[in-house]
Amino acid sequence: RPRVLSGMQPSADSLHLGNYIGALRQWVAMQETHETFYFVADRHSITVDFDPAQLRHRTRATAAQFIAAGVDPERSTLFVQSQVPEHSELTWVLGCITGFGEASRMTQFKDKSAKGGAERASVGLFTYPVLMAADILIYQAHQVPVGDDQRQHLELTRDLAERFNQRFGRTFRLPEGFIPPQAARIYDLQDPAAKMSKSGSHPQGIVELLDEPGPLRKKIMRAVTDTGSEIRADKENKPGVTNLLNIHSALSGEPVPELEKRFDGAGYGTFKKELAEVVIDTLAPIRERAKELLADPAELDRLLAAGAARARAQASATLAQVRERIGFLAPP
Ligand code: TYM
Repeated sequence: RPRVLSGMQPSADSLHLGNYIGALRQWVAMQETHETFYFVADRHSITVDFDPAQLRHRTRATAAQFIAAGVDPERSTLFVQSQVPEHSELTWVLGCITGFGEASRMTQFKDKSAKGGAERASVGLFTYPVLMAADILIYQAHQVPVGDDQRQHLELTRDLAERFNQRFGRTFRLPEGFIPPQAARIYDLQDPAAKMSKSGSHPQGIVELLDEPGPLRKKIMRAVTDTGSEIRADKENKPGVTNLLNIHSALSGEPVPELEKRFDGAGYGTFKKELAEVVIDTLAPIRERAKELLADPAELDRLLAAGAARARAQASATLAQVRERIGFLAPP
């Protein structure tokens, strides 16, 4: 079975619909056909301001949402990144074959440091994509299911793997992105020009996996739509409606052209009402299950510890090979 790896940051109490449609849903499906490794990227979350108690809670909450959405800790290796120390050692080695200019071209650093200025951003935020490359390469993953915003990081990962292999001998598999062709980017309901994001400036624009049905319905009914009244996908002129159509289609499985036909002449309100029910039907069981899991953190920690042990077996094998290739003495 080909191997899949992916991760998500515990940067909020709840994941959002972009995480679910862009990635998590694919993670669940790929368990049927792939050997799967999924993790909570807590090291990535300390690259920006954070609170330790909150981080601890969010790490568990993120893992709980993975399981609630259908990641099966028996079939998948489910773990917390910081419980596998090998990623950090590989990050150092890869950092030493990454060009400073190359890292400077990563757009996410530019975006995330835009607010405070690069001067005040952390070095961790700067080297973030190198850690992500280590996450992927240490498991020899064939495929990485992510949303569209991670595309540039995957390219860097491939470049680093190729460079290392050329210089030190074939060590890493070159991973492929697995980016859903449709709905790889879900936009903010209040600002359809911005991707839905935990750091987004419109709380009303973010559909959270743990939202109760009441607030969910409200957010969807108040989503920004476009002038006119036609329900038609047109990214240029109708970005708001297009985003809602994509969300509906991704969750219901009904193709966008059929939705357009079915809602021809119906008006935004009717469409949004149905969309709200589609979203609630998808998320309600996830929210319920996540709550149950979070009520027993000891059991959750036990599952995660078992996952970390399995992950370490693979990670340490790759790392041993890397150490040998680059001329480090074997650890005593
Ligand atoms: P993160 O935590 O920002 O996002 C987790 C996943 O959700 C996807 N995503 C979206 N997809 C569609 N529309 C959106 N609005 C949207 N917002 C987020 C992301 O593409 C991602 O797949 N660097 C990664 C975490 C990471 C990782 C890795 C991923 C660390 N190491 C190794 C894969 C492999 C990140 O910050 O994702």
